[in-house]
Amino acid sequence: MMGTERKRVFIKTYGCQMNVYDSQRMRDVLAPLGYEPSDTPDGADLVVLNTCHIREKASEKLYSELGRLRPLKAARAETGAPMTIAVAGCVAQAEGAEIMTRAPVVDLVVGPQTYHRLPELIARTHRARGEALETEFEPDEKFDALNIDRQVEGYTAFVTVQEGCDKFCSFCVVPYTRGAEWSRPVDQITAEVRALAAKGIREVTLLGQNVNAFHGAPPAGREADGPWTLGKLLRHIAMIGGIDRIRYTTSHPRDMDDDLIAAHRDVAEVMPYLHLPVQAGSDRILKAMNRKHSFAEYEDLIGRIRDARPDIAISGDFIVGFPGETDADFEATMEGVRRVHYASAFSFKYSRRPGTPGAALPGQVDDAVATERLHALQALLEDQQRAFNRSQIGRVLPVLFEKAGREPGQLHGRSPYLQSVHCDAPEQLIGQIVEVRVEAATRSSLTGVLAGGKADAA
Ligand code: SAH
Ligand code: SF4
Ligand code: F3S
Repeated sequence: MMGTERKRVFIKTYGCQMNVYDSQRMRDVLAPLGYEPSDTPDGADLVVLNTCHIREKASEKLYSELGRLRPLKAARAETGAPMTIAVAGCVAQAEGAEIMTRAPVVDLVVGPQTYHRLPELIARTHRARGEALETEFEPDEKFDALNIDRQVEGYTAFVTVQEGCDKFCSFCVVPYTRGAEWSRPVDQITAEVRALAAKGIREVTLLGQNVNAFHGAPPAGREADGPWTLGKLLRHIAMIGGIDRIRYTTSHPRDMDDDLIAAHRDVAEVMPYLHLPVQAGSDRILKAMNRKHSFAEYEDLIGRIRDARPDIAISGDFIVGFPGETDADFEATMEGVRRVHYASAFSFKYSRRPGTPGAALPGQVDDAVATERLHALQALLEDQQRAFNRSQIGRVLPVLFEKAGREPGQLHGRSPYLQSVHCDAPEQLIGQIVEVRVEAATRSSLTGVLAGGKADAA
């Protein structure tokens, strides 16, 4: 841009995919001010730490990172070129004021709903540090302000379509850090996806803390429809030329409606992969977690999804050691996992979060017991993931090649089931969806050879 001097910004991202999206958008917001991305804090004019608050370790990580930045900032100050340090994301939202008092090295704090105001905050902080705390909830304003060019890399992209959560699971900070459920208008989303497609993006992952609760304003001319659901949005995005694959995450079992399930059967672009966390197998614990459904209801739902799309890969999240969890409750989780058969999953030890209802519950589980349960559960989930990957051996899968692989001559891509695939292939195939015959599988990836066909949309 005219008259702007070149500056460098280093953004470090913690937490979920939405933070990855937010970091990219912060970069977009800063670009017109002359900020170019840097992959190290050394020599950066601006450092943004985009934080996550989901588990205890998160804020500790922030303070130790700030400790590492302090000497860099001091060294730079001596050269007369200041380094501005910004804390963004969910820790900023939850503990903004505390960060400003506890860490003088921080110049400004910006919550996830206000990062579009970064340029203005940076200007303000150069006048007075105390003014630079901004943690209001203004999603409308934020997404309007983000209606600017997106820089893209590669062939896949995240697009936030929904933010916030009204579910209030008793262990979780997200309803407090991201606020109430809010959906972007459909036209705004499609404009962003069209622009991505024009830049060569072939796969989009629609993001929301509770994405299947999507209820965005309908497109112009369709006002009579009322708010659109995620099922409708998927069908609409599938029509955008150039977009061959659509994924969405994360979903709550209670919001998985029939139309969304049907989209997995009817819409070729909707990939056969679903992250559908259940957290625990015991109804008593599910109730204490305020998940609002039983394990049998979850299983029934999985059954209906598999009826619609038999090959779908199911992924999940689990928490062990929730307050009051007995050996029998934990066994119910193991039993549930054995019945569902997961293609992949994340599992965590319960982390007590101040301010959440779970923090006040009696019966906090001994850490050694929770660790033991976590290891047992992870061993089972890893076996299932390995089995799922092995079941692909001999199949020909459409793979979207995204980049060069680890070995020379190799490319790396993703199967429809979100598996990592390694395959010897010429570089010209990067960005293409190509048929690969799977020859080998480990827990974390597949290896295959070109099957000689160019897959169309899948
Ligand atoms: N919005 C998403 C993601 C929430 S955070 C969802 O609803 O699924 C991602 C996962 O972190 C959760 O599914 C849960 O398994 C885990 N998690 C959340 N709070 C936690 C806590 N206090 N302790 C341990 N794990 C937690
Ligand atoms: Fe947290 Fe539950 Fe909302 Fe997911 S659904 S973000 S776990 S409160
Ligand atoms: Fe973490 Fe906030 Fe995402 S707490 S998981 S960065 S919504």
